[in-house]
Amino acid sequence: MCGIVGYVGTQQAGPVLLEGLEKLEYRGYDSAGIAVRNGSEDAEVVKTIGRLQNLVERTDGGKAVAGTCGIGHTRWATHGAPSKTNAHPHVSGNCTGSGSGRVESLVVGVHNGIIENYQELKAKLERHGYAFYSQTDTEVLIKLVDYYYRKYKVGPIDALAKTIVRVRGSYALAVMFKDIPDKIFVARKDSPMIIGKNDHETFLASDVPAILNHTRQVYYIGNLEMAELSAGKAVFYNLDGDVIEKEVTNIEWDAEAAEKGGYEHFMIKEIHEQPKVSEDTLHKYVFGEGKNVKIDLSEVGLTEEKMKAYSQIYIAACGSAWHVGMEAQYVIEELVGIPVRVELASEFRYRKSGILPNSLVIIISQSGETADSLAALRMAKEKGTETLAIVNVVGSSIAREADYCMYTLAGPEISVATTKAYTCQLICSFLLAVAFAKARGRIDEEQYRYYIGELLSLPGKIEATLSDKERIQWFAAKYANARDIFFIGRGIDYAICLEGSLKMKEISYIHSEAYAAGELKHGTISLIEDGTLVIGALTQSDLYEKTISNMMECKSRGAYLMGLTSYGKYDVEDNVNFAVYVPRVDEHFIGVPAIVPLQLLGYYLSVSNGLDVDKPRNLAKSVTVE
Ligand code: M6R
Repeated sequence: MCGIVGYVGTQQAGPVLLEGLEKLEYRGYDSAGIAVRNGSEDAEVVKTIGRLQNLVERTDGGKAVAGTCGIGHTRWATHGAPSKTNAHPHVSGNCTGSGSGRVESLVVGVHNGIIENYQELKAKLERHGYAFYSQTDTEVLIKLVDYYYRKYKVGPIDALAKTIVRVRGSYALAVMFKDIPDKIFVARKDSPMIIGKNDHETFLASDVPAILNHTRQVYYIGNLEMAELSAGKAVFYNLDGDVIEKEVTNIEWDAEAAEKGGYEHFMIKEIHEQPKVSEDTLHKYVFGEGKNVKIDLSEVGLTEEKMKAYSQIYIAACGSAWHVGMEAQYVIEELVGIPVRVELASEFRYRKSGILPNSLVIIISQSGETADSLAALRMAKEKGTETLAIVNVVGSSIAREADYCMYTLAGPEISVATTKAYTCQLICSFLLAVAFAKARGRIDEEQYRYYIGELLSLPGKIEATLSDKERIQWFAAKYANARDIFFIGRGIDYAICLEGSLKMKEISYIHSEAYAAGELKHGTISLIEDGTLVIGALTQSDLYEKTISNMMECKSRGAYLMGLTSYGKYDVEDNVNFAVYVPRVDEHFIGVPAIVPLQLLGYYLSVSNGLDVDKPRNLAKSVTVE
């Protein structure tokens, strides 16, 4: 999704803005632009399409644009095709050509989000003499700010307040006013934006990595809040225009955590970080040792009484986080004995059937900003249901709005394809399963300690799996030209397949599907032909024979079989053409090491085909639109 940045301070703004935008590239974009003001002069706007590098070259790394106050944007097209004209920043004045150059305009702004009623607002503004040069909702938003500023002759905060009362949708909005040099004004609702500050400079960005080289002091701006930013100063306002106090958060990760650190791509770096971040996540919630080892969720706020009281769990999430939910469903139902429903957040948010009383709704999200997941959370809260978020980004909307929040400690995840955050989400859901099972008397002390011990062994097992990566690399080279790949498995193995298949298609662009193994013969098996790759997940002993039979049905129709199972199940080689083994662990938790070979397979296939691994086409890291 779009990324926004802003800077006001003592340095030349252009290079700082471009550096910030570069750190947000992972979010996905198709065009980029900056607007910089030099004192009271009109803003100089530069926009390019395609890679950010084009903007870097056009502006000599930002140095060609003079001024110490500016805003920048990477656009992921929603309203209007990717083009220079539709690229941000947008201006309130009349504009010819693509909008680059020194633009005479009262208001210049950038926006991430979607204005749902932009057509109605556009018509209103047209009636008041405004003309539009782009197809974007953002141009409407900027012109609406201009309209209220002029019409009511109010200050910028009041003009912004009037604007946000009038618009429906989501926005992280940053604007500069021609008659107020060296200041940026911002407003936010349901789209991510943070404000950073040091003694002489103030920054705004869609995400923390964009400003980490300059400051660790960050403010989270809430929904329907606004701020006035000047060099080294940020003043926050509510919708009534009253000043509000905000606490500063000190960001603890170092800037290198968001760099490639010698790896060719963020994705492979993040795959290799999994032992460490799993360990960090486990040790955030597991304390003591030997007989005293325990899972402590007091920081999350979930008491034993609460865990005993729920009679139903819903899990709502999107993409890979939904796959975590699918896997958690099997594990929680088996260990805790409580019914679990897993819902795609985009569907759950519109469900009319209601939520059963005494339920807990768990929302899983790396970014904590996914629009559908956030809406699902709000829908559950409106119905009076308690909510628990499993989230990676500290201070994100979902983290702040849920009743309980369990953080994953994956650190910044830059690659669009999630790996380490997915693994940490799985670990959190397993910790919850064991804690619930203990609280509800489903397991005794000895079983409790056994499960915790198995969970604590996971980082080492991921490490061991990674040490076998060359075999996967070799296999990927052999299958680089595959057209279709099918993943099959049952139960937890089916959930593993869902994630393996998504990893494959999102970064290697190879068509792939995940099927519950028993379901294939009800139609899809007609797609199996000579040489089709079928990957069977075979980590669950009780389902092993069943899935092998389904794989054999494919083999007899020409499929080439890869089997993914655990150490010791070497007889799999009697049936499959290529076998991959992961270390043994309690089979409820084996999804953690078992996903690693599938992440590696997706990665190496993408690399073999020369694709943009970290920024796959059409995708965005954080999907903040519906
Ligand atoms: O930030 P979230 O965890 O809420 O994101 C959910 C999905 O958009 C995300 O998992 C997506 O499917 C990834 N690209 C998968 O790698």
